[in-house]
Amino acid sequence: MDQSYQIDVTSSLISPDISIHNLATTKPIKLGVMASGNGSNFEVVAQAIANGQINAKIQVLIYNNPKAKAAVRAENHGVKSVLLNHRDFKTRADLDRQIVQTLRQHDVDFVIMAGWMRLVTQELIDAFPDRIINIHPSLLPSFKGVRAVEQALAAGVKITGCTVHLVCLAVDSGPILMQAAVPILPDDTVETLHARIQVQEHRILPLAIANIGNG
Ligand code: GRF
Repeated sequence: MDQSYQIDVTSSLISPDISIHNLATTKPIKLGVMASGNGSNFEVVAQAIANGQINAKIQVLIYNNPKAKAAVRAENHGVKSVLLNHRDFKTRADLDRQIVQTLRQHDVDFVIMAGWMRLVTQELIDAFPDRIINIHPSLLPSFKGVRAVEQALAAGVKITGCTVHLVCLAVDSGPILMQAAVPILPDDTVETLHARIQVQEHRILPLAIANIGNG
């Protein structure tokens, strides 16, 4: 293949184009993080705080899946974690009421959904209006909901990415705060593409939180 047509797989475009080093947050944000699985996004946020790149403290991690690796990561960072297993609650609203109570008990100002795989209800949204963000593995408004990476591959788009947005009741539909674009390569599988999208997630989620800290 002609060199000039090769794609730089590490290339990406982040909007807005800003550096975390320019973002000295003015006051510490008290974060609550919600995660269901691996927790790599939790990890980068915890690291950005430890490195002094974000002026924040993770007050509590809430996880719903007893096997979530995010809980192990929290322990490694000395962050308290609380298991709220969705199977122990009759309705989504019951679970969300308990989540709100837990977030309030831990004096949380701002909520980060970092791979939280449950639909949320008005209970949670009303308790933290415009103070819940989510990271989603597509360029919203394309490919909302589950299996977003698979959806992008199936649609044959050539560029996808990830989005940090405010959470509202409609799934993956709140105002967009930050996005990163990722090229789709001819041989991509869900796994290879998701891995490259995650590299960008790990850049924009701390940036978005730092931005929030700046008001
Ligand atoms: C991420 O791809 C995020 O966009 C989606 O769930 C995944 C969580 O990954 N909402 P991790 O658990 O943070 O590694």
